[in-house]
Amino acid sequence: MVRHLLKISDFSKDECKKVINKAIELKKNPKKYNSALEGETLLMLFEKPSLRTRISFESGMQQLGGHAIFYSIKDSPLGKKENISDTAKVTSRFVNIIAARVFKRQDIWDLAKYADVPVINMLDDFAHPCQILGDFQTIKEKKNSLENMKLSYFGDAYNNVTYDLMRMCAIFGWRMDVACPNAPEYSPEQIVLDEVSEISKDTGAEVKVVHDAIEAVQDSDVIYTDSWMSYGIPESEEEERKKAFMPYQVTSSVMEVAKSDAVFMNCLPAMREYEQTAEVIDGPQSIVFDQAENRLHIQKAIMLFLRNKF
Ligand code: CP
Ligand code: NVA
Repeated sequence: MVRHLLKISDFSKDECKKVINKAIELKKNPKKYNSALEGETLLMLFEKPSLRTRISFESGMQQLGGHAIFYSIKDSPLGKKENISDTAKVTSRFVNIIAARVFKRQDIWDLAKYADVPVINMLDDFAHPCQILGDFQTIKEKKNSLENMKLSYFGDAYNNVTYDLMRMCAIFGWRMDVACPNAPEYSPEQIVLDEVSEISKDTGAEVKVVHDAIEAVQDSDVIYTDSWMSYGIPESEEEERKKAFMPYQVTSSVMEVAKSDAVFMNCLPAMREYEQTAEVIDGPQSIVFDQAENRLHIQKAIMLFLRNKF
């Protein structure tokens, strides 16, 4: 059966650990893998902008001896003159892996349903699994462990990255506080809360939504925030969102309440003085550039895993 990575809970805890360990090995010894995907092709379908994801996937595939094709959905008949099932079936005949960044979760689900090759979600409105696997690789490298941690998240919680962080904390049995405004448009969807509480029953995780930043940051090992203006949010909403999220801005005073060895993370792109102050993102606890680098290594590991190369 062809495996896909559409959200992080498509992988078990053991599989996540296996992929993270492979990424750490690939990072140490990239040359050993420089023909691991020789002759293979990755198709990257993009409906939204990207810096990190596009460049790290393309470089990663090249480093594994394969080839990557960038295809902008703007140039494509997909969803207009051609349905997604036809696109999935046709491109499966040309390439070995399909990766896609789309607005709607249904589109990536349809791609996976009809593709004969692995599909990787490069970000939709429901998940960002490559990001979260890279983030956990980074946490493992910094903390030497992935056991018994507390992560606190601040800001927009009606959000792809937040959803996969919640799922991943649940899978790993962590504590996680999601600090966001008390309004449905900024809070996690019920379907995500239900999935997270189902996973937590087995793992003992405690993932909760709170509305007070100082309460959320108590005892935290990892402080995480994401953009207040995710791709596709109209500029006309910026002022209103800024007002709603400002109480959840990660500042030095928030950082001081966390554990003294806490790290600060942001998947990037980031705006200084929005979701965090410049002092925090450019300060000594910030690991955002190591976090960004690990997208390269983890995606190489994900591609090898889905192509059954380890
Ligand atoms: N973090 C992330 O996915 O960045 P890009 O939008 O630049 O790809
Ligand atoms: N939540 C952000 C993540 C960017 C990587 C967005 O969707 O734009």
